[in-house]
Amino acid sequence: MDTIVALCKRRGFIFASSEIYGGFNGFFDYGPLGVELKKNIRDCWWDDMVRRRDDIVGLESSIIMHPKVWQASGHVDGFTDPLVDCKASKLRYRADQLFFSPVVIDGNTVGYVSALESERTAAELQEAAESFKRKKAIQGTLAPVAPRDMTEATPEEIALIPSPATGEPGSLTPPRSFNMMFQTNVGALTDGSSVAYLRPETAQGMFVDFKNVVDTGRVKLPFGIAQIGKSFRNEITPRNFIFRSREFEQMEMEYFIHEDADWSKCHQEWIEWCRQWLLSIGLPDTHLSLYAHPKEKLAFYSRGTVDIMFRYPFGVQELWGIAARGNYDLTQHANASGKPQEIFDEATKKKFTPHVIEPAVGVDRIVLAVLCAGYAEEDVKDEKGNVEKRVVLRLSPRIAPVKVAILPLLKNKEQLVARAQALYKKLQRRYAVFYDESGAIGKRYRRQDEIGTPWCVTIDFDTIEKDGTFTLRDRDTMEQKRVTEADLFALLEEKVY
Ligand code: GAP
Repeated sequence: MDTIVALCKRRGFIFASSEIYGGFNGFFDYGPLGVELKKNIRDCWWDDMVRRRDDIVGLESSIIMHPKVWQASGHVDGFTDPLVDCKASKLRYRADQLFFSPVVIDGNTVGYVSALESERTAAELQEAAESFKRKKAIQGTLAPVAPRDMTEATPEEIALIPSPATGEPGSLTPPRSFNMMFQTNVGALTDGSSVAYLRPETAQGMFVDFKNVVDTGRVKLPFGIAQIGKSFRNEITPRNFIFRSREFEQMEMEYFIHEDADWSKCHQEWIEWCRQWLLSIGLPDTHLSLYAHPKEKLAFYSRGTVDIMFRYPFGVQELWGIAARGNYDLTQHANASGKPQEIFDEATKKKFTPHVIEPAVGVDRIVLAVLCAGYAEEDVKDEKGNVEKRVVLRLSPRIAPVKVAILPLLKNKEQLVARAQALYKKLQRRYAVFYDESGAIGKRYRRQDEIGTPWCVTIDFDTIEKDGTFTLRDRDTMEQKRVTEADLFALLEEKVY
């Protein structure tokens, strides 16, 4: 992760927010290359999800909605995480991410150890237990640790579990519910009557505008409403760079189906659609897996949720959640607003409230996934045969921030520069391209490799003196071949869609 974070900063993909003031935990800025990468991901999703389908329409709802929306949706009462305070250090932890274990020697519990959730939680607890035994000089056989999280701790245990901040017991509080919605006030008054919320998900916009879309959009079941936009959550422990932040962007789609439709089949189809889409933007199959939420952990209205997981450097984590939500959301809004959210069934001549399948993904998590999967360091030979390290970002041409770099062989040869500039301007009308005339050609290739540019074009003397062809260099194979301008446009047409 450190390498990825350093590359993001060095090459202008992602910066800490408000960096000159020391940064702001859980917030990030996308730099010149990051903003292109993110836009390409959004555009691919929008094109594939909305424009290239006949059954899905788009929406852009407001970020701040009527507070009653969040009461009806259940977020005011239930959008909480369990929070544990350390009274000594003033640090806060998510109770389900803070693990502990009794230290058991010869069958007797002699103390407790704690560790924050990580790839090595159990191993860290075991090491802490061994160190505890050594420090206290207790003889006997240490039992293997039995990790549990703080939501499972009894009041007696909480008093004995050491804080990860101080290493001492006695300062951790019992878990309490912490609502993750950011509050604001709308209008001049700042009393309770003006409280509103920054949306914690884009999904509710689609439910609240359901009737508007049905009445105006010429849609027929099954159909979907899709939206891309910012969401905000006051995460207790934002972490792993942009993986869990407090301001992030979601791409969500609500697919409405008949109440009698085979929801399970539709759910499976959407899981596969999402998986295929991730492959289409270049994520390797080997890094993806599925996780079905256990029935007993689902919300009462939920029929099933499957997450597409991605193997990040810090562990296998949720990338995309695909939930079958019954007709809970529309029913809640119908009850709270007094306005039925129904559709008329021509076949049965009855009205009903449609059910929904919801694929919901975070753009930032996709950005992080493509950066992690695409990053590689390789030993290659330079023109003189010396071995050097090349950093390469294998981004799919669909999402790469720059599609082609145009490189005149020499910057002081007017004809080379004029031809390169002409091609650059022509390509620029349709594609994000980069013009670079400074430095040795090998160095210029390396600069493009590091930011994921799939192709470099070198304009040389043969281009202007012979047949007009130029050298096309492939980022992944490093192979070079001579192509015509028409070949280049055909290649881009095929690969960038
Ligand atoms: N409407 C359903 C919903 O919002 P969610 O699982 O809470 O479900 C959907 O969020 C997706 O949004 C997640 O799978 C993840 O990709 C992204 N996401 C959620 N919280 C995030 C955070 N704090 N930072 C970045 N992305 C987040």
